[in-house]
Amino acid sequence: MNFHILTLFPEMIEQGLGTSITGRAIKNGLIDVNAVNIRDYTKERHGKVDDYPYGGGAGMVMQAEPVYLSYKAVEEQILAEGRKKPRVIYTTPQGKVFNQRMAEEFAKEEDLVFLCGHYEGIDERALELVVTDNVSIGDYVLTGGELPAMVMIDSISRLVDGVLHNDDSAKYESFANNLLEYPQYTRPEEYMGLSVPKVLLSGDHKKVDQWRYEESLKRTKERRPDLLLGSDPIETSNFS
Ligand code: ADE
Repeated sequence: MNFHILTLFPEMIEQGLGTSITGRAIKNGLIDVNAVNIRDYTKERHGKVDDYPYGGGAGMVMQAEPVYLSYKAVEEQILAEGRKKPRVIYTTPQGKVFNQRMAEEFAKEEDLVFLCGHYEGIDERALELVVTDNVSIGDYVLTGGELPAMVMIDSISRLVDGVLHNDDSAKYESFANNLLEYPQYTRPEEYMGLSVPKVLLSGDHKKVDQWRYEESLKRTKERRPDLLLGSDPIETSNFS
């Protein structure tokens, strides 16, 4: 899986994704992170990539050309290597809110391009020309698109075969069935007067599975009843 990130801060992406599980996946060749500096594609002096907004108003707007050219360079490379034109995700609070189902859908792609905005946004013409998906990570505003891109890349990467060492862990955690994950315990059996639920020590796998399912359901009802009501587009027919 190849991630291409169009950004003014490539070092932020490289450092953020170069550690922990995504860092190991990069080293093992399971994912590739190609951070492309939009500034390398400006023809203006001093690496200028932004300008004042037409019509006035606060802040600066990222110019269309360096964004367009940086995308074209990535597209050209992908096509030259015999792969299809990629989906281009623009990280924006105006997009559809990212969820596990979207992570699963994106994980099917061979290449994904993320376009990270800064300042007061990007010239609309560049967006019209290159973007296929507008995606937000929540209803709040950040200073730039790099953190949202990293959030999405992290959650997509862990669905790529081999990235998590234990295959099962991606299947049974929160949201896998539109349910939150059950509580987990490890040694010791008692801590500060709190005991591990007896059923988990019983060795009876059927009973353990049943208990975990019930706890998942209880936790989802308490903490995220919206998931059970099906307000989220994830398939809810798995509930009995
Ligand atoms: N850029 C700024 N805020 C954002 C958000 N909430 N989601 C995605 N991209 C953003």
